[in-house]
Parts: sequence; C-alpha cells; structure tokens
Amino acid sequence: MPQHRFIVCSYTQNLTSGKVSWQAPSNIALVKYWGKYGEQMPMNASVSFTLKNCNTKTSLTFEKRNFAKDSNHNGFDFEVFLDGKREVSFEPKIQKFFERVEVYLPFLKDFKFKIETSNSFPHSSGIASSASGMSALALCLMDMERQMQPDITEEYFIEKASFLARLGSGSACRSLQGPMVVWGEHPEIDGSTNLFGTKYPFAVHKNFHNYQDTILLVDKGEKQVSSTVGHDLMLDHPFAEQRFRQAKENLSKLIPVFKNGNISEFIKIVESEALSLHAMMMTSMPYFILMKPNTLEIINRIWKFREKTGSNVCFTLDAGANVHILYPQAEIEAVSKFIKTELKQFCKNSEFITDWVGLGAKKL
Ligand code: DP6
Repeated sequence: MPQHRFIVCSYTQNLTSGKVSWQAPSNIALVKYWGKYGEQMPMNASVSFTLKNCNTKTSLTFEKRNFAKDSNHNGFDFEVFLDGKREVSFEPKIQKFFERVEVYLPFLKDFKFKIETSNSFPHSSGIASSASGMSALALCLMDMERQMQPDITEEYFIEKASFLARLGSGSACRSLQGPMVVWGEHPEIDGSTNLFGTKYPFAVHKNFHNYQDTILLVDKGEKQVSSTVGHDLMLDHPFAEQRFRQAKENLSKLIPVFKNGNISEFIKIVESEALSLHAMMMTSMPYFILMKPNTLEIINRIWKFREKTGSNVCFTLDAGANVHILYPQAEIEAVSKFIKTELKQFCKNSEFITDWVGLGAKKL
C-alpha cells in the first residue's frame, strides 16, 4: 500500500519538549470534492486556489509525559485553545484526528500537547477553518517528526503533512502549497493521488496570476449540514456516478483553460461546479438547500453585471450560503466598486473578506 511509506517505526533523535508554530491558508475549490470513500479518499479529483489572507496560525507546545505520574496512559493528552481561551468543543475533532494519524505518528501518546490556534477570519464568519486548521496542525506535527528524524526530505515532509491533514479534513490536504493544488487521482495529471494534495503541475496563464477572491459573508451561522454528513449523502445518491464523471471532465477542461488564459471558459466551468455541488445537496435524501435568498440575489447581480459590462467576474460556493467572488487582478477596481455599491448590502452586517491567491503555508 503506498501509504505505508508514511509509517515510521523509530526515530534517530530524542525530543523532550519544545514549541513549533505554523501558519496555513484556507483554499477555495474550483472543481469540488463532494463524496468520499474509505479513509478520507475523494470520489473525484478536485483543484483549488490557495488563499492568501484567510489563514490559521497554530502553535504546538509539547512535553514528554511522565508515565510514572500519569494515570491516563492509554489516551492522548492535549488541550486546545482558540484565541487564548480553552475551546473544549474542538477537542473531539482533534481526538478523532489523533486516533486516525497515530499509526503514522507513533510519538503522539508520548507527549502532552498544548494546541493554540487563531484564525485571521472571525470564527463566526461561516468560513470553514477546518482546512487551514488541520493543515497547520499537521505541519506542526511534521515539524516535530523532522526534529526526531532530521534526514527526511522536503518532499516527504510536505507530502506527509498533506496526507495527515487529509485525515483530519479532506480539503485540508489542499491547504499547504500554492498557488493551485490538485487532490485526487486524475488520468491527465501525473503525480496526482488520492493520498495527498500536489501542486498543479501545468502552465498557468498570466490572466490567472494573483486571481482575486472576495468572500461575501451572507450567513454566519453554524453549518446546516456538516461536510461529513454531506459527503455521506453521496454514497447512495441517484446522480453520484454522473457527478463524479462531470468533475473529472471539468478538471480535464480546465487544463487548456489555465494554459490559454480563457476566462470565459473558466467562468462556465467554475460556476457550473458550484451549482452542481448545491444540486447534489438538493437532490440527496435527506435534501438541503444551503443557499439563502441573498446568495441567489448576489448570483443574479453578478450575471447582470457581467452582461452589462463584459466583466470577467464570477462566483463559486462552498457547502453554505457565502459567495466567493472570483475575478482577475486587472479588474480589481471595477469589481471592488461593484461589490461595495451592489453586493455588500446582501451580506450579514455588510461584511466581506478581500482575498487573493497565495503561495501556501509557512513556518512562524
Ligand atoms: C464543499 O473537506 O470539509 O468545501 O473531508 O469531511 O472534512 P471532510 O470535508 P471537507 O469538504 C469540503 C467540501 C467543499 C468542496 C471542496 O472544498 O472541495
């Protein structure tokens, strides 16, 4: 099994205590991951832009446990803090993550951990922090592993970090490198794999450099459907096979589009992907509508603006009501004005986040 290369039996160096910190970005999928099998394997390949401003910073403080004093031998020992405050509600997810990755990180039970995390975007913004959060934590753990095994290569480091992040949250494996990442086997993309994200390997036209993503915060509440429940609904979905085929074809179509800089084709694929994702949720059993009236209003305004001005602005959606407005760097001025005068009014408290494509995670 290819993942066996991430299993370690022993380390050369001893580690007793320390602290590591990483910043990892959020990402926005252009071809969506929706549907998984086995241990966090995607049913289709996806591709994303890595974001620059939306990120999570995580510090991991670790200390070797004293088993003579420690009564809880068999469990993991960790505490999670968000913005300096203990956040017990995050701990079950981390517990599950540790359970899944323990076979690949055999030192996990030997340490007591303090995980301190903060997001650049408000926690209540409805933006998923699981991708950037799991990526930042996976990078911290790999940083520890590298201290215990200094001869691991940079390539191994990043691949295993992405592999681990995937076990925390699928889309997190696309949140390490930039500017574009592919996750999932695709016949036309050499090196693509279900196990971890890899940098998009082909030419990208300058039209797509520094692509802009303004995130309109339409609904800031708790997610109506968790992504895990959503993915599971694809297991016996009547249109699942067609959807996975469509995603594969859309990724094939994007390859020449990125090469030639054809933004109008890009728009067709990206908007269709967003609506297909939501169509899957509307046609599953049980069914959900995750868009809000304001989501639709924004989409209609974008279409009208495009028709009237010839702009290349378009939208994509995640599994929620917020709208990501995508546009080329050359249109920053016109689109910013459009957002402020026409779209902002449809956001909760007029809030939006200005972001663009970034280059990936960094050690702090
Ligand atoms: C709609 O990565 O959040 O954002 O693997 O269950 O943690 P889990 O799911 P998650 O799913 C994200 C789905 C999406 C599309 C995408 O990012 O590709």
